[in-house]
Amino acid sequence: MQVIVLDNYDAISEQAARLVEKNIQENDQLVLGLATGATPLGLYKNLISGYNARGISYKNVKTINLDEYLGLEKNHPESYHTFMSEKLFQHIDIAMKNTFIPDGNPSSAEEECIRYEEIIDSIGPVNLQILGIGTNGHIGFNEPGTDPNMSTHVVELKTSTREDNAQFFQSLDEVPRHAITIGIQTILKSEQIIILASGKSKAKAVKRLLEQNVNRNFPASFLWKHDHVTLIVDREAYQFV
Ligand code: GLP
Repeated sequence: MQVIVLDNYDAISEQAARLVEKNIQENDQLVLGLATGATPLGLYKNLISGYNARGISYKNVKTINLDEYLGLEKNHPESYHTFMSEKLFQHIDIAMKNTFIPDGNPSSAEEECIRYEEIIDSIGPVNLQILGIGTNGHIGFNEPGTDPNMSTHVVELKTSTREDNAQFFQSLDEVPRHAITIGIQTILKSEQIIILASGKSKAKAVKRLLEQNVNRNFPASFLWKHDHVTLIVDREAYQFV
């Protein structure tokens, strides 16, 4: 794992954007794995600037998102469909048919997991996967305890994860209790992975990640099993190391 420590959130967002853009310039048909949450927002802003100011085109890029809440309609204000559309897709020249996010309101969640994994198999491998990290070490929505050999599956969200994400909803009660996430195994099939962490709320998770103790109680630790991972972290998130 390559570790890049930068001054602040703006710097890590810019650095990540430069890496994504470099990959697109080298391969205009890039398959890009995307994450939601607060952390990649700065990256997405930089990508939008790169599209507007420097003509970085997404015309042939395909994107595969990590996860989606179960029980939210696509157009719910807090669905990851809405998030991706508002924060990135509607501001760049990507074709919506080339963007993939699990359906959060399927008739059968189990069938949706199979369908989504088949999509990843057919258009993948993901060339470059962007990840954030939960305070409990989750990646995607792979919560502590998750079997690392699982592919796309339904998860019951931990209370700590629901509490972390409650800021985006009216109340904790409104935060969905389940989600569909691609598995750790699926994430590890990506050719290259960038994991972003920012702010002191992530310092403990970053410290634990860097201990290199690969175990199910800390899902991000499985990234040590991959040989092309870059952790881009700001000083606040690196402070206890
Ligand atoms: C969310 C997402 C993850 C994200 C993580 C951290 O629940 N499912 O993909 O990386 O939790 O989110 P944030 O960046 O807001 O701290």
